[in-house]
This record gives sequence, C-alpha cells and structure tokens, in this order.
Amino acid sequence: MLKKIDIDYLWEGLVLCFDVYDSSGRVLLLNKGETLTDEKINKLKKFNPDDCRVSIDYTYYDEIMSGLDAPVFIRERLFEDNFGYTRLCHEIESLFSMWVKHRYIDSDKAMQIMRAIYKKSEESSFADILQCIQAPRKKQDKLYRHSLNVAFLNAKIGSWLKLSDEDIKMLILSGFLHDVGKIKLFSALLNSKGMSEKEEIEMLKKHPVYSYDMLSLYGRFDERVCMAVRTHHENMGGGGYPEGVESDEIPVFGRITSLSNVYDNAVSSESYDDKKNCFTVYRQLYEQEFGGLDMQLVNIFLKNMMKELVNTEVLLSSGKTAVIKKMFSDSLDYPIVDFNGYIRKTDEELYCKQIFIK
Ligand SMILES: [Fe+2]
Repeated sequence: MLKKIDIDYLWEGLVLCFDVYDSSGRVLLLNKGETLTDEKINKLKKFNPDDCRVSIDYTYYDEIMSGLDAPVFIRERLFEDNFGYTRLCHEIESLFSMWVKHRYIDSDKAMQIMRAIYKKSEESSFADILQCIQAPRKKQDKLYRHSLNVAFLNAKIGSWLKLSDEDIKMLILSGFLHDVGKIKLFSALLNSKGMSEKEEIEMLKKHPVYSYDMLSLYGRFDERVCMAVRTHHENMGGGGYPEGVESDEIPVFGRITSLSNVYDNAVSSESYDDKKNCFTVYRQLYEQEFGGLDMQLVNIFLKNMMKELVNTEVLLSSGKTAVIKKMFSDSLDYPIVDFNGYIRKTDEELYCKQIFIK
C-alpha cells in the first residue's frame, strides 16, 4: 500500500529504502537504493507542480515522519508543522495578501488568528515557542514569521506582567499586525524606480503609519492595537520614528511590541550557518546594547526568560546537548548546565548555542 508524502520532507543525501511514485501512485519516479540529490528533488517537484507530493510504501512513512536521522532543517519543519506554527504563518500570509488583492484587512479573520495564537501560547511550553522563533527564515516568509513571533512574544510578556486575557489578546493582535504596513510599502517600493538609498530608508520609516492607517481605517481594531503598531519604532529616550515621542508618551503596548520586535530581529537569521545565539542576545539586552527600550520591561522579560529556560535542552558549541539548570542575570550567555550528569558553568570554550531542536 502506498502513502502520499510531501516532497519537502525528503532530503538531499537520503538513501531510498523504498520506490518513489508520483502522487497518484501510478508512475515510478525513483528506484529503491538511489541517493536523493537536490536535482532529483527538484525533478520530483516539477513532475506535478500542483501537487508537491509523492507516494511511498506506507511502512516507511512513519519512519520518515519521525525525523530520525533527518537533517536539522527537516526536523525543524516537522516540529513546526506538528506545533501548528506553519499553519499560523500561512494564515497571517493570507490575511496580508488580502490587502494586496482587495486593499482590505479582514478584522474577523484577524480575530480568528488572534484566538488561535492565544490558545497555542496558553497550551505550549515557552521552549517550544522559542524553538520556532530561532529557526532560520527564508526571504519569502520572513515578514510572516516575524509577525507571528512578535505576537507570541507579546502574549508571553503580557502573561508575565499578569495582564488580563483581554489585554493579552490585544497584545497578540498588535504583535502580528505591527508590520502589516510593510505590505503597502513593498508595493510602493516596487513601483519606485530610481529612488536613492536615503529615500528608501525614509520610505521604510513610514511603515508604522501605514500599519496604523490600514487598521484604523476599518474601525474594528481597538485603539490600543492601532497605537501599538504606530509606536513600535519609537525610543524611550526619543529619536525614534514616526513621531519621535518619548518615555510615557509611548503607550505600554507599543513599548512591549518594540521589545518583542527588537528581540525577534536580533535572533533572526537566514540560514543555519549565520544562526544567531539567543543567549548572546539576552546578554545584549541586559547590557542595553539595543537602546531605546523600556528597561523595566526588559528586566521583567529577562527575569522570566531565565525561569522559563530552566530544564530546557540546549545544543552546546561542542555539538552535544545539555540541560539548563541555572542562569545568571550578569552572565546570561553562560548558564549552568547539566551535561550528562556533570554540572558545569558554560564559558567561552563550551557555550550554549541554541535551544535543542527535538
Ligand atoms: Fe516595524
């Protein structure tokens, strides 16, 4: 019996212990014993571009889907699919693309996405959320992943601040809608031939206002959400954009979204080679390297992050795994770990690289 599998779950270097048929199961595409190459994977994708699946013997399906022996990016994909992260990203993408087609932000759909993120953040461990956040992003899904990550981080900060459920929901909306104005900006930049770099930067700085206008136009978004998206690039000391307001003039939801935005941008990478170390980012936050943030919020963020990360499995610089046992606010990049029953403090030689991908 054959079972359909997404081609994206097969990887270069996999030695096939099964024949590969097209998605209908009628055409034999690859023989058992062959080694998959990128070229062969691309050919499989081109065979039926409308249905990027192939069929394999069902007895091997679970083995492939267990992720055992699979490279890290396949394990990450499996994890995100099972977690529901992939689906949420697609939901955000389809919400944003509605604006491209119809110049309309569907507030009912936005509320649905918000409820799904709220439920997910309630039932998931923070380590699982961080695992999705730390995954490399392709150019085409960067905006959607970033929007979802900021929503998850906003939800977490809201719960650490013991805000009401209603406030947390507003923070989630602020999180995944804060950069929606970039969709309008991308269309504008596409049609702007001959613009200088300086002009482009000035244009980019308009995205919080675009986000605000897009949300306030439909009138069904809470004013706190509209203001949070408008102020997520303002600085506590002034000098941010679009208004350059400072300190108490920046609403709390805007300050929270700004912190989530800075954190997610700092840990974002495009490939596993240039992957950022989140532990270094914690230290940078503590040492105020990013500037402009509400340090009271940063301290609450770090204090709770230290608690949440205890007993989380991490990948060490040696390639081995360990479990975090204690973190220190003045050396956030070097936690104490349990390394095969041996408790030691990590350091420049042996350090934590990232949350371990299950
Ligand atoms: Fe932004």
